[in-house]
Amino acid sequence: MKIAIFNAREYDKRYFDRYNRNYPHELLYVDTHLDESTLVLATDADAICVFVNDPVPAPLLKRMSRQGVRMLALRSAGFNHVDVAAANELGILVANVPGYSPYAVAEHAVGLILALIRRLVRAQARVREGNFSLEGLMGYDLHGKTVGVVGTGKIGSVFARIMHGFGCNLLGNDPVQSEDCRALGMRYVSFESLCRHSDIISLHCPLLPETRHLIDEQAVAEMRDRVCLINTSRGGVIDTSAIIRGLKSGKIGYLGLDVYEEEENLFFEDHSDSVISDDTFARLLTFNNVMVTGHQAYFTHEAITNIARSTLENVTEFEKTGSCANQLISS
Ligand code: NAI
Repeated sequence: MKIAIFNAREYDKRYFDRYNRNYPHELLYVDTHLDESTLVLATDADAICVFVNDPVPAPLLKRMSRQGVRMLALRSAGFNHVDVAAANELGILVANVPGYSPYAVAEHAVGLILALIRRLVRAQARVREGNFSLEGLMGYDLHGKTVGVVGTGKIGSVFARIMHGFGCNLLGNDPVQSEDCRALGMRYVSFESLCRHSDIISLHCPLLPETRHLIDEQAVAEMRDRVCLINTSRGGVIDTSAIIRGLKSGKIGYLGLDVYEEEENLFFEDHSDSVISDDTFARLLTFNNVMVTGHQAYFTHEAITNIARSTLENVTEFEKTGSCANQLISS
């Protein structure tokens, strides 16, 4: 099949080329975003492949359908950026790559926690300046702390296992309980109770209508003073204005973000020669207890390998059978 891979970076090309040796697909790399004006670059493509920063709404899907596109292959696990119901109606098969490496994201979340509570970035900057004072660098032990995990699916349960290894107590909130997490001693509680009793809260649920702004003014008010809040799920799960107020009041003691509500036009690009026009994001960066990474939690050799391999497998399966085990059906 001819697959147009949008927003293709050098690393995407390297990994897709390597694994496409096993498949007869024709790969067309497009450096730009997918939208109504760039769709023409995918003329003749049977499948279009996008990452998380290319929204695919119904009007775009309609044009894709008219252009003869039969499959939308996501090189991501999350699919909140695609109107899956519209794709289903139009007969465009949408497939994602679930579970390509829950370790990558879970380990990044743990990295954010350690960097924040042990003030590693500040410590490194000081040492480079020859300043070995420990004033202002005091952290706390993870051992014995209570960690709340919102969403205990593939990533959340790996995260819970790592935190269990540190000697933390685990609280969970998820409509579906994980046997693995229960076996670690996790107690499932209401979202409010999790907020009230956790020293650290890590978000691992998908962005759905019911999880949009799950962390709002009220949730922040419920949290423990000086809570450490980590979001590696999707930016929209947090109401950014509410957490800025929480940071200003001191309620939120540490904030680690790998995702941001308005990341679409910010992340994955080099903006170092321009000014950041998003005032909310710019305000976040002024706090010394906030650490932001640009949606890189998934970015490991193992994960990118699995993404390339699974995406190509999805397309091959669709080509051979007309369906695909990873296809998404709107509920
Ligand atoms: P998963 O589907 O295995 O787990 C998600 C869990 O969230 C499920 O157990 C589900 O029942 C639960 N959930 C659904 N609604 C909920 C609610 N209202 N409250 C609490 N829990 C709820 O997904 P997986 O693979 O663990 O990924 C989780 C999320 O992580 C993805 O949806 C994606 O948004 C994000 N992600 C972020 C990446 C990054 O690089 N930062 C990379 C990959 C995924």
